[in-house]
Amino acid sequence: MAVKAVPFHSKEYWESRFDKENHFEWLSTWSTLHSHVKPYLDPNEPILHLGCGNSTLAFEVADSGYPYVINVDYAQNVIQHMQSITDTDRYPHVSWRAADCLKPIGEQLLDNKKDQQEDSDSVVEYSVVMDKSLVDCIACGDTDNLAQQKKLADNIMSVTRPNGVWISVSFSGERKYIAQQSKWIWRREITVPIKADQSHDKPGAPEIFYWLSVHRKVPS
Ligand SMILES: C[S@@+](CC[C@H](N)C(=O)[O-])C[C@H]1O[C@@H](n2cnc3c(N)ncnc32)[C@H](O)[C@@H]1O
Repeated sequence: MAVKAVPFHSKEYWESRFDKENHFEWLSTWSTLHSHVKPYLDPNEPILHLGCGNSTLAFEVADSGYPYVINVDYAQNVIQHMQSITDTDRYPHVSWRAADCLKPIGEQLLDNKKDQQEDSDSVVEYSVVMDKSLVDCIACGDTDNLAQQKKLADNIMSVTRPNGVWISVSFSGERKYIAQQSKWIWRREITVPIKADQSHDKPGAPEIFYWLSVHRKVPS
């Protein structure tokens, strides 16, 4: 019998899932990740969180002292849902934007800033960009030459300040963070295994690890 793979790289899959699902946290929670990424964060600097889904990570990030979180996902319905559940008094600087990370991200953020009639700078650049399992979705739709993962790495590069970092949490420790820009590269700073929460597994189940990587934008 043929096994049907879940189309994690399909926007329709996510939109239909978010029509029924209010919250799901992939891979790991902020309480587990925080100590590993603390050295790369600055409370005064916004964090661009890509492929946010209906994760509550942004609220936990804000509660832990980093109030500026811009969350991005290409599923418009999840962005609307997350906007509707955000307590704007408690989280005045947590925002939600629809954008496709396989297209130029900065342009889309500028466009929807204008739609929301916010003050718009002409440059969209962040010191910290984060994704939790967005890379995995992109990898699911990839070909042997990793064209989609390279496109993601390029697009993230173009919204990252020089010396800024891309913090990525993945199912795999083998993901490739390769941009094709000639001026800049992603230089690996750390890759650490993150033990999965297995509190619901049977006793004796083999341990499972996810992978946290930090890459820095440096001249090539
Ligand atoms: C595995 S889920 C992870 C959600 C969330 N980060 C978490 O950890 O719970 C991947 C998310 O990436 C989003 N996504 C996939 N491809 C995308 C793309 N090209 N642009 C923006 N978002 C994308 C999906 O809609 C989904 O919300």
